[in-house]
Amino acid sequence: MKKTFTVTIKNKETGKVYKEQVNSDDYILKEFEKKGFKLAFSCRNGCCTSCAVKIKSGTLQQPEAMGVSQTLKDKGYALLCVAKATSDLEVETTYEDEVYDLQFGQYFGRGNTRVAPPWEFEED
Ligand code: FES
Repeated sequence: MKKTFTVTIKNKETGKVYKEQVNSDDYILKEFEKKGFKLAFSCRNGCCTSCAVKIKSGTLQQPEAMGVSQTLKDKGYALLCVAKATSDLEVETTYEDEVYDLQFGQYFGRGNTRVAPPWEFEED
């Protein structure tokens, strides 16, 4: 049965707060877009993490959110493009690449590591 919940989104970078009533049957990103808000997104299918937020209070469901690991879901991260509210909810946007770095940053070198291009391996 369709319900209505209040969803509050705080933009972590600008400090702006957006609050809207959303239907429990629809994705939160889509619900905010229908009301004229422009939120970050890219793939719209739960893969890229462009729409990632951190839950401050409340609950949602996001079974299609493949872009965020269960560990990060347990820490409160969610993808608004595939998330439906299951209660009143407060979330905060994440910095660009925050979720990606949390999941994959350990696997990639940072800063002072560099892979030399092939011509630097060639000997005279
Ligand atoms: S827009 Fe790509 S995960 Fe939501």
